[in-house]
Amino acid sequence: MRPTERAGTDARAAVVCGLGAWLPPTVVTNDDLARRLDTSDEWIRTRTGIRARHVASPGMPTSHLAAEAGARALESAGVHDVDMVVLATTTPDRPCPATAPVVATRLGLTGRPAFDVSAVCTGFLYALATGAGMITSGAVETVLVVGSEVYSTILDPADRSSSVIFGDGAGAVVLRAGHRSEDGAVGRSELGSDGSLADLITVRAGGSEQRSSGAPALPADRYFSMWGKEVFAHAVTRMAEATRAALAGAGWHAADLDRLIGHQANVRILHALGEYLDIPRERLVIHLDQIGNTAAASIPLALAYAQSTGELAPGARVALTAFGGGATWGATTLTWPALKTV
Ligand code: COA
Repeated sequence: MRPTERAGTDARAAVVCGLGAWLPPTVVTNDDLARRLDTSDEWIRTRTGIRARHVASPGMPTSHLAAEAGARALESAGVHDVDMVVLATTTPDRPCPATAPVVATRLGLTGRPAFDVSAVCTGFLYALATGAGMITSGAVETVLVVGSEVYSTILDPADRSSSVIFGDGAGAVVLRAGHRSEDGAVGRSELGSDGSLADLITVRAGGSEQRSSGAPALPADRYFSMWGKEVFAHAVTRMAEATRAALAGAGWHAADLDRLIGHQANVRILHALGEYLDIPRERLVIHLDQIGNTAAASIPLALAYAQSTGELAPGARVALTAFGGGATWGATTLTWPALKTV
C-alpha cells in the first residue's frame, strides 16, 4: 500500500530517528561575568535560573557548531545521507548566502537542498515543521533539522541585561518518513507570529531597513537588544496557547504529558508556563541552568539533555513549545522514540 493510501492514525508522518547536540568547550560562569560587568551570580541565578553558558571560540561560526551537532544526529540515526538540510539560526555565518549549504557540504551532503529558517528562538520548531511538512507531502524521505547559534557574536559585551542570558550551542534531529502511529512521529505544529512586536527582540542594523535609510548604523544598533519584561509576558501566554492547541490536536490533556520542553529562556518563564498549563514542575525539562538561552538551539539541546538523563524514555508523551523574536511562537507534540545516544 502506498503511504498516501494509508488512512486514519497510520497516515504518512515525519518520525524522529536521530538526535545530536554540541556545545563549544569554553564555559563562562556567572562569577566570570561578574568580574567584568556590574552584575552578580545571585542576580543572574534568581532572575533567570542560569548558572553558566558555553561560548564559541573566535573563528568558530554557527556552521561549525551546526556541523558538529548534525554529524552526531546522523550517527544517532545510523545514516550518512539525508534528502534535505534545514538550519534554524538567528546568527548565520554571513547575511548572504544562507548557512545551511555550508553545513550540508561539511557533512558530505553537497547537492542536497539546504536552506535557513529565521524565527529566532522559535526557529527550531519552524524548521521542524518545515522538514516534517516536506516529508508528509512526499517530496523527500529524510531531513536533517538543525538549530545552531553563536549569540556571543551579536551581544554587546557591555550590556549586562543581555550578556548574562544567552549562550552558544547547537542541536539537531534526523526525520524519516514513517507513520503517525509510530513513536517519534511529529504531531501537528501550531505556529504563529505578530510582526507588530518586532522591536521587542531585535538587531536593528545590518539589514535593508537600516541600509535603505541612508544613515550610518549607530554602534548600539549592531547589537542584539530585548525588552525583557514585555518578552516575558508574551512568552508565557503565547507558549501556553500554542501548547494547548498542540495538545488538542494530539487528543491529549495536559495531565497526559510526561514532559513539557519549553524554550529555555528563563526558569521563571518555564515555571509560569507550567502553572498556566497545570503541569507540575517535575515534568518540566530544565537545562538552561547549564547553558543559558541558546535561542534556535534550545529545544534540540534540551531534548538531548533530557534523553541523556533518562527524563525522556521511549513512549514518553512530550510537548515542545517556544517563543521568540518576530514575535514568533509554536508548539508540537510527539511520543518519544527509542534513539541511539551519541
Ligand atoms: N545584573 C544586575 N542587574 C541587572 C542585570 C544584571 N545582569 N540586568 C538588568 N539589571 C537591572 C536592571 O537594570 C534593572 O535596574 P533598575 O530597576 O535600576 O532599572 C533591574 O535589574 C530590574 O530589571 P528588569 O528588567 O525589571 O528585571 P526582570 O526581573 O524583568 O528580569 C530579565 C530581566 C531579562 C531576566 C527577564 O525580563 C527575562 O528573562 N525576560 C525574558 C527574556 C528572554 O529570555 N527572552 C528570550 C527570548 S524568548
